[in-house]
Amino acid sequence: MRRRLIAGNWKMNAPADPAGFVDAIAAARGHRDDVGALICPPFPLIHALVGRGLRIGAQDCHAEASGAHTGDVSAEILAAAGVGHVIVGHSERRAAYGETDALVRAKAAAAHRADLTAIICVGETGTERREGRAADVVAAQLSAALPASATAVNTVIAYEPVWAIGTGAAATTDDIAEMHQTIRAEAAGRLGATVADHLRILYGGSMNGANAPAILEIEDVDGGLVGGASLRTDEFLAIFAAA
Ligand code: PGA
Repeated sequence: MRRRLIAGNWKMNAPADPAGFVDAIAAARGHRDDVGALICPPFPLIHALVGRGLRIGAQDCHAEASGAHTGDVSAEILAAAGVGHVIVGHSERRAAYGETDALVRAKAAAAHRADLTAIICVGETGTERREGRAADVVAAQLSAALPASATAVNTVIAYEPVWAIGTGAAATTDDIAEMHQTIRAEAAGRLGATVADHLRILYGGSMNGANAPAILEIEDVDGGLVGGASLRTDEFLAIFAAA
């Protein structure tokens, strides 16, 4: 059915020996076709990590193909560098740079234009959850951030509750199950039931080797977007094994 994906987001971090790290994961992973493994390093490391037996992705892209955008990187440049996936709309970028759903949609469309798979992040804040608005907020984010070009092949959704990211406290399996159902239903409304059925929905937020088995057992969870634990080979491989 849905091929699982464990995606590592290194953020603005890197292990001491990035190439050795990727080689170790690739070797330990073997030839499992049912689960994909992806590492999204900082931009300058992409070149050294492509072609070592793991999929390499990027953490962001600009919406335009080229131009006077100092410090930015386009989806086309990423594709030419051997990248196949790009994360868009991560909550850290929404918070730090004011990225809106409309901009996230434009970035996802740019990824599709360059034949990249867009990993579109959505997730509520702690306040929004306490106010009982989590499902509404996430459904609205998804609806506004999904471009018309989205298919189950070129798009992956990552549900990342903001309050669970980097805190060591993942969401409960009940909350994750409920939200992933909400996301699939919203995607069905936008893209049709068949696409939604095949769409991969990852969970992200303090996923680690210990909590991954229970989270990955949830029916609508198709993998993980992993931050801190993706910087340790033992943790990343434990999550991968749980998938
Ligand atoms: P975390 O980060 O696993 O360190 O909580 C997840 C993410 O932000 O993608």
